[in-house]
Amino acid sequence: MEVKTSLLDNMIGVGDMVLLEVLTEDSFIENLRKRFDHNEIYTYIGSVVISMNPYRPLPIYTPEKVEEYRNRNFYELSPHIFALADEAYRSLRDQDKDQCILITGESGAGKTEASKLVMSYVAAVCGKGQEVNKVKEQLLQSNPVLEAFGNAKTVRNDNSSRFGKYMDIEFDFKGDPLGGVISNYLLEKSRVVKQPRGERNFHIFYQLLSGASDDTLKRLKLDRDFSKYNYLSLDSAAVNGLDDAANFRTVRNAMQIVGFMEDEVQSVLELVAAVLKLGNIEFKPESRSNGTDESRIKDKNDLKEMCELLGIEQSVLERAFSYRTVEAKMEKVATTLNVAQAYYARDALAKNLYSRLFTWLVSRINESIKAQAKTRHKVMGVLDIYGFEIFEDNSFEQFIINYCNEKLQQIFIELTLREEQEEYIREGIEWTNIEYFNNAIICDLIENNQNGILAMLDEECLRPGTVTDETFLDKLNTICAEHQHFESRLSKNSKFLNDHSLPHSCFRIQHYAGKVLYRVEGFVDKNNDLLYRDLSQAMYKANHSLIKQLFPEGNPAKVNLKRPPTAGSQFKASVGTLMRNLQTKNPNYIRCIKPNDKKASHVFTESLVRHQSRYLGLMENVRVRRAGYAFRQPYESCLERYKMLCKRTWPHWKGPAREGVEVLMGELPVPAEEYSYGRSKIFIRNPRTLFFLEERRRQCLQELATLIQKIYRGWKWRTYFLRLKKSQIVVSAWYRRYAQQKKYDKIKSSTIVMQSYIRGWQARKLLRRLKYQKRCEEAVTTITAYWHGTQVRREYRKYFRANAGRKIYEFTIQRIMQKYFLSLKSSMPSKSPIDKNWPARPYLFLDAVHTELRRIFHLWRCKKYRSQFTEEKKAVYEEKLEASKLFKDKKALYPSSVSQPFKGDYLEIRKNPKYQKLNSAVEEKVLLADVVNKINRANGKGTARIFLLTKKNFVLADQKTGQVKASVPLPDLTSVSVSTQSDGFFALRLKEGSASAVKGDFLLSSEHLIEIITKLHRIGATAADREQIDIDISDEFLVQFKQDKVCVKFVQGVAKNGNSVSCKRKNNRLLEVSVPTKA
Ligand SMILES: Nc1ncnc2c1ncn2[C@@H]1O[C@H](COP(=O)(O)OP(=O)(O)OP(=O)(O)O)[C@@H](O)[C@H]1O
Ligand SMILES: [Mg+2]
Repeated sequence: MEVKTSLLDNMIGVGDMVLLEVLTEDSFIENLRKRFDHNEIYTYIGSVVISMNPYRPLPIYTPEKVEEYRNRNFYELSPHIFALADEAYRSLRDQDKDQCILITGESGAGKTEASKLVMSYVAAVCGKGQEVNKVKEQLLQSNPVLEAFGNAKTVRNDNSSRFGKYMDIEFDFKGDPLGGVISNYLLEKSRVVKQPRGERNFHIFYQLLSGASDDTLKRLKLDRDFSKYNYLSLDSAAVNGLDDAANFRTVRNAMQIVGFMEDEVQSVLELVAAVLKLGNIEFKPESRSNGTDESRIKDKNDLKEMCELLGIEQSVLERAFSYRTVEAKMEKVATTLNVAQAYYARDALAKNLYSRLFTWLVSRINESIKAQAKTRHKVMGVLDIYGFEIFEDNSFEQFIINYCNEKLQQIFIELTLREEQEEYIREGIEWTNIEYFNNAIICDLIENNQNGILAMLDEECLRPGTVTDETFLDKLNTICAEHQHFESRLSKNSKFLNDHSLPHSCFRIQHYAGKVLYRVEGFVDKNNDLLYRDLSQAMYKANHSLIKQLFPEGNPAKVNLKRPPTAGSQFKASVGTLMRNLQTKNPNYIRCIKPNDKKASHVFTESLVRHQSRYLGLMENVRVRRAGYAFRQPYESCLERYKMLCKRTWPHWKGPAREGVEVLMGELPVPAEEYSYGRSKIFIRNPRTLFFLEERRRQCLQELATLIQKIYRGWKWRTYFLRLKKSQIVVSAWYRRYAQQKKYDKIKSSTIVMQSYIRGWQARKLLRRLKYQKRCEEAVTTITAYWHGTQVRREYRKYFRANAGRKIYEFTIQRIMQKYFLSLKSSMPSKSPIDKNWPARPYLFLDAVHTELRRIFHLWRCKKYRSQFTEEKKAVYEEKLEASKLFKDKKALYPSSVSQPFKGDYLEIRKNPKYQKLNSAVEEKVLLADVVNKINRANGKGTARIFLLTKKNFVLADQKTGQVKASVPLPDLTSVSVSTQSDGFFALRLKEGSASAVKGDFLLSSEHLIEIITKLHRIGATAADREQIDIDISDEFLVQFKQDKVCVKFVQGVAKNGNSVSCKRKNNRLLEVSVPTKA
């Protein structure tokens, strides 16, 4: 961003008072006015910032302004509070120095605003990020919460801080905020119960009543009307430019961001409501029998509602407002309270409730904002206390507030005036002492442990006997009367004796900032800060967690009879700790000045500003700065910071640091009067010189940074290059190896191919030669053999020519035949006539011989076989042969008969006595005896008959009786008819005209058909006296039954009832025999 105004150029008035040409109080004030009139509210005295309250918003805190001041040198731009904040933040971050920002000025001068500006600037320039932003937001949002509960409208300031606040903001090494710790100092709690004319109670009461929703108010049992509450002053309830309702929403929102739970917020609001209710409790006297008055509560409604809000039993609190328990020597005595005491007790309870709530709020905020990390922190403390104030009626609170301001002025004087001048002397710098007012004497008047006002007040409070504010004043009158800064009507400082402006029961202190008249009334009480134990016990009994926490001393188990430290001594101790803390940090001062008493913009009341600049010691401050040096630094750190500005000191100076700095400054174009050498530090007179040094350093640093960057980049790229080179070598080595390996493998394989070709070629050549050689040898052998053969043949031709060929042929044939028979002999098949084996024929020309030999052999072995037969067996075989000739391939029944032996006499007729009669009727030898079926001519059914065959005739006899039914001489039989099928039917046809033929032909059926017919045929063949019987085989033949000729027809039928053949008379001329087909 472009720099518009520099501290040292084109300034309205003078930006730094040190540069005022003529330094007088008038020129000083004039400079302030001139700048104020031009909206330049900030002016420097060296590094101290003077801030004038503009009483109106100025456009100088925008984000653009933040950017403008960010990371800029303190003297580079026009004076601004941001420049100081930036300087503090950068030295904290870069030089690791803890900082504190001390903001002083009287009430309404703008301290609180300044502290918020510093915080918001630091928040804007420090690191960013989700976590960091949350911390920042919490730190910033703690302000509205604390202001609502701790600020109030006073006659001097509409938003006056009624408590002291010191906030440590903690940063990590990068300068990012980690968290914070807030310390609070004595809240002006008397304001809770009573406010001076024209002032208000704490903001939160008004905010709650204006801003809370109807529901919330109902729940809190509150009414929106301020006038309903005794504790709220009515004449100044509405403040111009203050929107209580909107602020209430801001506070609720801030509480949420800081991390308050919803129930915590509710508890806090309940307490606030309870305080308002408490103020409405009123008492009336009730006379007792012993003549004393006892207080009674007038209207119990408010008490009831308050008790309901806090969960307290009404009777307990009611009793606590009427009685007080005093413990003396292990004894408890209950004394009654009169009305005044009851009011005192009520107010004490309200004040305690509120101030303890405030302390709890601070600790609760601390809990939220405390730094999480346990690492070392850098700290920036921001101090914003209540400003110095003078009211018409000043009490203990103002005394405490002004004491605190006195201490702050002291620390300012210590560090800027006294310490600085002492340092010049210590360092041996030529120096003319500058007079200034040291307020140590006033501090001593207040805090001296033996006879300081606070010590005496404590003494008075602890003293046995009657103690009143008057006795305390008496004590002051006796002890402090001599003090220059103490005045009272009765003091021995006689010049005031006649001063009737000084009322009774008052004392006056001449503070650094003016005289303040304090009314002693209430000093003792407020210092004692007593709350009756009955009340704290009643609070402890509350069924409300927050109330219980706030009154731990009410726990009956922890009764502590020791007096608690007084308010004054507590405050003194905490201020002491604060001062010690501030002294360990690097101070940055903001001196706030109030331009007028009317809270008005554009009004510059010269007398008021003059007064403030006087008591703040600003003129002295300028004088010391002007006579002295703007900047100092130990030689070591100066050399360390600026050594790069001179070649001889950069980068290392070997000798003592002071000599190094002398060499350094000698080489720089800085006039000698601009600096001085002290014992351990160099002193630089003008900020311009420092600015010059800083600028040169900045340039040098840039060059050095470039150099470092250059070297680093060179190193980085060189290392990178070397790494690349190294890897390239590795890669190429591996590649070369790979390429060579591949090449070698290729050469190797080609060599092997070539070798194999050459070897092959050589081998083939050798083979060819060897083959040729062998052929030659064979040819020679053959030729020789042929030659020898020719020669032998030529020799022996004369002996062989006529028959040698034939002889050789016959011999050969002979030999072959010999061999053939011999082999045939050894491989002869078995002698079984059915064996089909016969050795294979060896030569084709032996084909006929071989077949013939086989036939002969077969005939021979058949003959051999037959020759073993007996006569009977022979006859049987002859019969079988006969049957074969007759029926083979003609009748289907034949094959089944082949395996059946022709037994002939199946009935054993000669032996069986049953057939004795029949046997005697037959003379001839029975050739065949069997049971046959005689077919009935009428219906085709069969009747069993014994069939006997002899050489002369055949007989049919009854099977049971053996009675001969018919006996036919064989010559009467002309032919036998049978079918081609597998049935046993046969017709015996008789010679026409013969005696036997009277009854007609016989149609019979037998299981031994083949045997019967064969035997009939053989008998015919062997008998000389008759013709051979014809065998007629056909499926249709005629049979003569008595007169009729009936055709017997054989058909193929389906097997029924087993396999039996059925015979049916179809009509007069047809008898049908159904023969089942074989499956
Ligand atoms: N820089 C500023 N710009 C605009 N207005 C300002 C500035 N500083 C202060 N004010 C105005 O002055 C009023 C009082 O300022 P502030 O509350 O900071 O005073 P204070 O010094 O903290 O007083 P006290 O000691 O009573 O707390 C503010 O409410 C605001 O209106
Ligand atoms: Mg303030």
